Amino acid sequence: MHITDLPISTHERVVFIEDLPGGLSALIAIHSTARGPGAGGLRMRDYADFDDALTDVLRLSHGMTLKNAAADLALGGGKAVIIGNPATQKTPELLEAFGAAVETLGGAYRTAEDMGMTPDDMAVIARKTDYVAGLPGASGDPSPITARGVFLSMKVAAKHRFGSEDLTGKRIALQGLGHVGMHLADMLHEAGAKLIVTDVNEEALDEAVVSFNAKVVGLEEIYTQDVDIFAPCALGAVLNEKTIPVLTCKMVCGAANNLLATPEDGARLAARDILYAPDFVANGGGIINAAPEILGETHGPDWLEDKLQALASNLDAILTQALDTDVPPHEVAEQLVDAKVALAA
Ligand SMILES: NC(=O)c1ccc[n+]([C@@H]2O[C@H](COP(=O)([O-])OP(=O)(O)OC[C@H]3O[C@@H](n4cnc5c(N)ncnc54)[C@H](O)[C@@H]3O)[C@@H](O)[C@H]2O)c1
Repeated sequence: MHITDLPISTHERVVFIEDLPGGLSALIAIHSTARGPGAGGLRMRDYADFDDALTDVLRLSHGMTLKNAAADLALGGGKAVIIGNPATQKTPELLEAFGAAVETLGGAYRTAEDMGMTPDDMAVIARKTDYVAGLPGASGDPSPITARGVFLSMKVAAKHRFGSEDLTGKRIALQGLGHVGMHLADMLHEAGAKLIVTDVNEEALDEAVVSFNAKVVGLEEIYTQDVDIFAPCALGAVLNEKTIPVLTCKMVCGAANNLLATPEDGARLAARDILYAPDFVANGGGIINAAPEILGETHGPDWLEDKLQALASNLDAILTQALDTDVPPHEVAEQLVDAKVALAA
């Protein structure tokens, strides 16, 4: 196996791993270990080329530093990508080679599942390293916890935007009824919200209609619905120069990662008086759920809910400061996180 350090000044360590017998071609990026081991999932994708994979792993690992610090976890930021098609190129040999590479980093990077990976894959990786979470029967599916974190965040943001946390009667456009989106839809329906939904998956749409009396709209129509809240729970970069001008919502709060296509899009939202709950704060429930497994800690039954409530309180403070100082919320959130990381460094 060849492990090559790449000189990337924005990150503590970035390694390129090649294992020709196992067919592995992977990158591990450790953005920061100031607050703890660099934790973040492993993604396997058929990247267009090496640069495409490198851009993804650098962006995602930085995002994990933000997310982990925003959730006040004793974790830094890291991420890994395997270059290849998970449907056709994932083999036990390849996963074991990846596990061996993780082991050489001595715990500075802790892996878990991300796109293209399953708990069973993590079990294969665990044959070669202890620095892996998301194992079968361990912390389990994070999606319900992520959804609860987004739900609590949405209530906090609603307090700032509408003067009340009460979501009764609020019209909410929900993009993506997957693992997180469907749980969120359930909570919002219970809270008395009116749901307008879109997805590429017809079965999920049918379920939302039957279970939550949701109205279904087309994939592009979701942006222009006359709603109070937009909840993007499918793809990143959906808040961009094309969509922001056509949004009619008063606030955005969703689960998807990297919602802002560019940092300028945060300012674009603010200029349109649309309150934005930063994604890396609102969607922290998933990593909160996994953190004890990653760190080998055991907590009492109230720990998870307490951490989710703390996440909502953090968002409350961020939005208060953003509205008081007229600085877009994602900038306030990044400043607060940078200060926490600097303090720990
Ligand atoms: N699962 C978690 O705990 C977690 C934690 C943090 C962040 N996230 C992020 O939240 C988002 C949703 O995660 P998930 O686990 O529910 O994923 P998922 O794959 O289960 O769900 C995504 C849903 O979006 C739908 N979709 C795909 N393209 C679409 C489009 N163009 N328009 C509308 N819908 C579309 C899919 O059909 C699917 O139903 C992702 O961006 C993920 O990275 C998830």
